[in-house]
Amino acid sequence: MDAQQIIKAESDYVLHTYNRPPVVFTQGKGLHLYDSEGNEYLDFTSGIAVTALGHSDEEWVTAVAQQAAALTHVSNLYHSTPQAELAQKLVENSFADKIYFCNSGAEANEAALKFARKYAKTISQSPNTKSNIVAFTGGFHGRTAGALSVTWKEKYRTPFEPLLPGVQFATYNDLTSAEDAIDDDTCAVIVEPVQGEGGVHPAAPEFLQGLGALCDAHDALLIFDEVQCGLGRTGHLWAYQAYGVEPDMMTLAKPLAGGLPIGATLLRQKVADVIQPGDHGSTFAAGPLVCAAANVVFDRVSRPEFLAQVRQNGEYLQHRLKTLESEKITAVRGAGLLAAADLTTEAAPVIAKARENGLLIISAGENTLRLAPALTVNRDEIDTAVSILATCLD
Ligand SMILES: Cc1ncc(COP(=O)(O)O)c(C=O)c1O
Repeated sequence: MDAQQIIKAESDYVLHTYNRPPVVFTQGKGLHLYDSEGNEYLDFTSGIAVTALGHSDEEWVTAVAQQAAALTHVSNLYHSTPQAELAQKLVENSFADKIYFCNSGAEANEAALKFARKYAKTISQSPNTKSNIVAFTGGFHGRTAGALSVTWKEKYRTPFEPLLPGVQFATYNDLTSAEDAIDDDTCAVIVEPVQGEGGVHPAAPEFLQGLGALCDAHDALLIFDEVQCGLGRTGHLWAYQAYGVEPDMMTLAKPLAGGLPIGATLLRQKVADVIQPGDHGSTFAAGPLVCAAANVVFDRVSRPEFLAQVRQNGEYLQHRLKTLESEKITAVRGAGLLAAADLTTEAAPVIAKARENGLLIISAGENTLRLAPALTVNRDEIDTAVSILATCLD
């Protein structure tokens, strides 16, 4: 099939839940993608913050190929080596005592909400009323029913209501608003330490610390959604490490297996203690193939020198973007290699123009550009991306 035939087949047969540009990618290497017409693009999306090591990383490809040849899937009815190795690494390098594996960010949040409800039912003096969940303005947690219930944008939620009852939204980065929302009937508070889809907004340290204190005071569980900002994206292994506060649960997904589907909910022992066999599960989760990939990603990203480079290159990216501040770009912000630029115009035409000029970027809201390159990006690639972007702002 040529590009036109592929685009037509997708439009004929694939449910229209995405508006895709007329490009068919056929190959990737490092920060570069190639389309069916032989055009080259600099990829500053990394598949929405997923391909942390870039495209077709050699070590990753070798591990996946070897694991596929040895064993791909056995289901969670049986033990397998790569899953055990990955779980050990995640626990030994975080606040967590246990890991629950799944296949996506929404699923990881779905699991966290279920675990919070069961924890409250098990430990609370008032198990019938301690079921409320507090989420935040601008937050995005996924599209499944539970995760959608705690996602802020009404456009995503309204067509599917009624969703989970007992969800209350407080204002992000406003501790007074959180104080008003969190009480003894709250079983969980879910928050992104750095909001991604909501416009790349880092939390203020006193806000996250205050949430920790409020959760302690009301016996509610603090859930950090690090699906987008976790695993090296901010230049710290976990975004929360920059804040001096630890959660009771944390969700991960996007970059964890470098491009294969995986999700994880990390839990403290007190939460793990209330979960029994049969309470939750997944056929595909954390099979040998995806975990072999994730082990390569984790081993590389967790190295201190790798994280230091992400911090340095993140600062450089923001510094270079700030040189574009003008009538059209009013503000630049970010955390590590997750950067945003606010526009006075709509983001979509700038994104389209950038693509036509060989640079892939995405939006985070109507008027905000989001740049989330692979964590392996280098300074030359940042310079090239920023100079292409500069030509798209006229
Ligand atoms: C912070 C956050 N949580 C959850 C999700 C949902 O992840 P998934 O699309 O893998 O279900 C996303 C996806 O963008 C996200 O950014």
